[in-house]
Amino acid sequence: RKDADTDFYQITQRAADLEIIPGTTTQVWGYKGTVPGPTLISQRGRRTVVTHRNELPVPVVVHLHGGVTAPEHDGYPTDVIFPASSDHGDHGTHDDAADFEHSDHLASGDTSDGEREYVYDMDQPAATLWYHDHRMDFTGPQVYRGLAGFHLIHDDAEDALGLPTGDRDIPLMIMDRAFAADGSFFYPSVDPDLVDPPGVESEYMSGVLGDCILVNGAPWPELEVSNTKYRFRILNASNARRYRLNLDGGLPFVQIGSDLGLLEAPIEHGTLDIAQAERFDVVVDFSGLDIGEEVTLHNQHGADGTDVIMRFKVTRQEEDSGPIPERLAEVEILSEDDVVAEREFVFARGGAQAHGMTLWTVNNQAFDPDTILADPKLGTVERWRIRGLDVEHPFHIHLAPFQVIGQDRQQSVSSFNHGWKDTVSMDTGGQVDLLVRFDGYRGKYVFHCHNLEHEDMMMMANFEVV
Ligand code: C2O
Ligand code: CU
Ligand code: CU
Repeated sequence: RKDADTDFYQITQRAADLEIIPGTTTQVWGYKGTVPGPTLISQRGRRTVVTHRNELPVPVVVHLHGGVTAPEHDGYPTDVIFPASSDHGDHGTHDDAADFEHSDHLASGDTSDGEREYVYDMDQPAATLWYHDHRMDFTGPQVYRGLAGFHLIHDDAEDALGLPTGDRDIPLMIMDRAFAADGSFFYPSVDPDLVDPPGVESEYMSGVLGDCILVNGAPWPELEVSNTKYRFRILNASNARRYRLNLDGGLPFVQIGSDLGLLEAPIEHGTLDIAQAERFDVVVDFSGLDIGEEVTLHNQHGADGTDVIMRFKVTRQEEDSGPIPERLAEVEILSEDDVVAEREFVFARGGAQAHGMTLWTVNNQAFDPDTILADPKLGTVERWRIRGLDVEHPFHIHLAPFQVIGQDRQQSVSSFNHGWKDTVSMDTGGQVDLLVRFDGYRGKYVFHCHNLEHEDMMMMANFEVV
């Protein structure tokens, strides 16, 4: 289809057999059968319509993470697309597929033909967004099998900056996975009807970790680069793993953007702390290296395979794209004077149970699609204090961008938390103070922990913009 103001994409979600670990076959669930899914591109101000067709054996939900999206297109956890190829009775061969028709939470959207359109207005600055599955109770396993992709927004202001483009502008999706001996993804299940090996509950409850790092779907890859500047849009798409990244020889990351777009000015980092779902848009300058030299991207938090992410090998000489501008964008700084309401949310384990397990909760409440925990007014700014108990929790809110103004009872903010964000990590017992702007649409949305196992174990809540 063609339309002067709209870009159209068509994505079929399907199973595919890929060779991820050499010599083995992994069945993935992928957007267009690939992991990551295709990178979608939008231009600010042009509407984007993505038609998803579900050829998987389970219901799916698509959420555009970071998108300022109308509620009916945001991928609410119960707003599912049923499988196209069955009368909802085809369970497939996967453990968690067997459970879906017993769920009493499924909404009845107009999805009986297994297909639906998501409409994105894209009235927001250039940024690195991503889309991923968001089905209630099953986001962890469905993303784990591969349902994640990039969605980039460009705008004229960014295009004018002369940042590295084309094959020097590379999104890097980092995720950890575990593989069984036959090459299949190993994901522990909490289905109480299954006989699980001992220890699975605890493994699942703290979040599922893998011992193999994939970048753009490949284990520990090597990228050939020229001796010039590259822009890397780094996304941590892992279910439960946080990383502390660094490059050999102290080669710096020059951060130019955060979750939701460009920073006012670049920030140089020797190491990068990146929690689940966060994005760091960085420039790395390989011009000091000789042809043939290699640089490894490490994870200082890792060990035994998770300590190496990927390698860059300088293989050719090329003209440099010029300096990184000292001023990247106008970033409006929210002020505490604008705050019209204050709220506090505690992310912890406790307050609710299911199948004999203590759930992860928000203010002691398990996620319930019908309970609204906050009702901010459209066009206002609120101050939210989020406290995370027991373990680390990455807080994420749909629709509403925020700025971090305090951390761990200090008025100062780590150098990783500048600019507009949609996800912020709390250390164990940590606390973040946020100024959140509710703009764009009225309606019901979620905020949740982006440890996907915590999210599935109910650490999620509704807010309604009124
Ligand atoms: Cu990236 Cu509600 O999700
Ligand atoms: Cu989101
Ligand atoms: Cu959590």
